[in-house]
Amino acid sequence: DWTPAAFVQETIERIKQEVGDKKVVMALSGGVDSTVAAELIHKAIGDKLYCIFVDNGLLRKNEFESVLESYKHMGLNVKGVNAKDLFYGELKGVTDPETKRKIIGRLFIEVFQQEANELKDIAFLGQGTIYPDVIESVSVNGPSATIKSHHNVGGLPEKMNMKLVEPLRFLFKDEVRRVGKEIGISDIFLARHPFPGPGLAIRILGEITPEKVALLQEADAVYIDGLRESNLYNQVWQAGTILLPVQSVGVMGDERTYEFTVALRAVTSLDGMTADWAHLPYEFLAKVSNDIINKVKGINRVVYDISSKPPATIEWE
Ligand code: XMP
Repeated sequence: DWTPAAFVQETIERIKQEVGDKKVVMALSGGVDSTVAAELIHKAIGDKLYCIFVDNGLLRKNEFESVLESYKHMGLNVKGVNAKDLFYGELKGVTDPETKRKIIGRLFIEVFQQEANELKDIAFLGQGTIYPDVIESVSVNGPSATIKSHHNVGGLPEKMNMKLVEPLRFLFKDEVRRVGKEIGISDIFLARHPFPGPGLAIRILGEITPEKVALLQEADAVYIDGLRESNLYNQVWQAGTILLPVQSVGVMGDERTYEFTVALRAVTSLDGMTADWAHLPYEFLAKVSNDIINKVKGINRVVYDISSKPPATIEWE
């Protein structure tokens, strides 16, 4: 019988044997998988695990700072790298979704590789690969594997001449969560919604600018905080805010406004392959719409996405 406790014990032993006194480098994303994988490796080899957490400027509001703080609190040997300007610079003028993904994937690898090279004598690359990623990358299934290039799986090892340490390679998501609970990882990580590698870049339709990122971060924070406060966060599989490339007329006080629209997305799903739009209470939608428009200068209209997947997708790009 599979139990988290036995898995943790065996895995730590196996990593100790495999890695010995060599060094491991690993990229953290703030997500469940990389966090649980890192903590398992950390338990096996301590500070010989070097973690790198990149700020691509496309994370949620305050996410980089607060997640980095949590990692340090866990005792992980982690370096936060601010690469915002690099990402914004290369994304300037780019509107095509797949081109955005490719640029972000390439820059991420460049930044990570440079940081890893500075560490010297690294023999292993740690990764939070889970079983569904393994299946997807041999492309048996699904729209998101074939339509969209996922950058956070693969790409790194071939270029880096390192052996892989992938403690979660044979686990499903629910097992990863159970293992995480077993080793004391906080709900901040375990109960977090999935978040795409390219981040807010694919939730800003059209061109990305630092100003649009800031605008979307503000609206998104009101929405996500609202979901938490209303105890709805854990009832949806994923939620996010999309900044649309249209401006429309509104009225604020006795002034005419001409500002942006955001779309709110929330879905229920088991694995992201299919999804239904979440039937959030009207009272909640009414409140959050008011809050966004009142608090976020630059947005005067909020819409709710009532499309299911298929035929729509969860993300808009
Ligand atoms: P879609 O939009 O294809 O999304 O219905 C399904 C799930 O995949 C996430 N997603 C991505 N994750 N890189 C990622 O790491 C990507 O390029 C990417 N595109 C979509 C999406 O957030 C949802 O959870």
